[in-house]
Amino acid sequence: MSTLPHSYERDRSLWNECADTYERRIVHGHPDVTAYETFEQRFIDRVAIHLTRDRGHMLHCYDFGCGSGRIHALLAPMLITAPEAASSAGIAHIGGIDFSERMIELARRNIIDSGLGALLPKFLSFDIGSAFDVPPYRGNHTPLAVCVCNSIGVMQGPEGARKLFSVMNRYIRPRNGIAVISCYCAEAVAGYALSNYESTMDVCGQPCWLKPDTYASPEYTLVPRRYKRAFDPDPAIVVDVVDARGKCIKKEVTLTRDPEAVRAVIATGKIDAYDNYHSRWYPIDRIKTWMREFWGEGTLWHIQGAMLDRLHGEPAQIAVVDYSGSFESLGRSWGFEPFHHVKRHAK
Ligand SMILES: C[S@@+](CC[C@H](N)C(=O)[O-])C[C@H]1O[C@@H](n2cnc3c(N)ncnc32)[C@H](O)[C@@H]1O
Repeated sequence: MSTLPHSYERDRSLWNECADTYERRIVHGHPDVTAYETFEQRFIDRVAIHLTRDRGHMLHCYDFGCGSGRIHALLAPMLITAPEAASSAGIAHIGGIDFSERMIELARRNIIDSGLGALLPKFLSFDIGSAFDVPPYRGNHTPLAVCVCNSIGVMQGPEGARKLFSVMNRYIRPRNGIAVISCYCAEAVAGYALSNYESTMDVCGQPCWLKPDTYASPEYTLVPRRYKRAFDPDPAIVVDVVDARGKCIKKEVTLTRDPEAVRAVIATGKIDAYDNYHSRWYPIDRIKTWMREFWGEGTLWHIQGAMLDRLHGEPAQIAVVDYSGSFESLGRSWGFEPFHHVKRHAK
């Protein structure tokens, strides 16, 4: 039986609650996360430039699980807004969807604060709703669908992840577009995930592998005193405990890793917090299997972050399906090959 409706509602209220701290402490916070974001922004920017400038496409971009609008801000300079240039190459529109109303409020505010408010909603738009309900794109441009920053890992477990693959395919298929999913690899959990989630437990709650759980409840926020970086072997982290009114009720509480729970997280890629936050870091093989299962009519590329940019992209993997044939020259110029190739792209 599907657990999706239940986990969807649970996650939606959780993301509404944590949207502001997520924006401050993760999107613009932890250095290893911002390095990863830099990696995927460079990747998407380069793909968009290649498709428009080198291959002459007019793109319609759409971000699944768009959060606070990072990709909108990234791609906005490529928008073609002058009516006389409407037939040239560039980006015609950037849309996105998120189920958290608060995230979309932040996204709109970010666009206005960056001086881009006049482009709303004709050229930049945000939908509030389920990523799983996005209908196929039937406009006149080439769709470029993206899902970044491990949004797939927080989209309600493997059932949601499979659905996302299927919906993104349905979105781009009628107009022979391109879809990109950027996410973390299960293989990077030991190096990156442990220190990352420990450092940001004021956003997502206390990770289940840390003991004791005395203050692991929605009544309290545990504020780490420092960011732990990737590969930091320290099994402990020191936090201050803050109550619901924002008052610090206990300083310098030490939480320590439970070795057995840590082993389970590394083995499964399942990140759970006591407060109902769940994330998945999917193994490379699993992502490739889903690509074949849901995207198998297109040309498939799988890119390990470490092979493109070890400094910024080591914990990441990028899945690309291309129905346009236009990604190929860029992928090959980076030294990659498709692992599944469909010769004809005709509908
Ligand atoms: C890890 S955040 C990433 C946000 C954004 N992509 C970024 O790069 O900053 C994941 C986002 O997915 C959204 N989300 C999770 N499940 C969703 C679903 N089923 N439909 C729409 N949005 C969802 C959350 O609200 C959250 O904003």
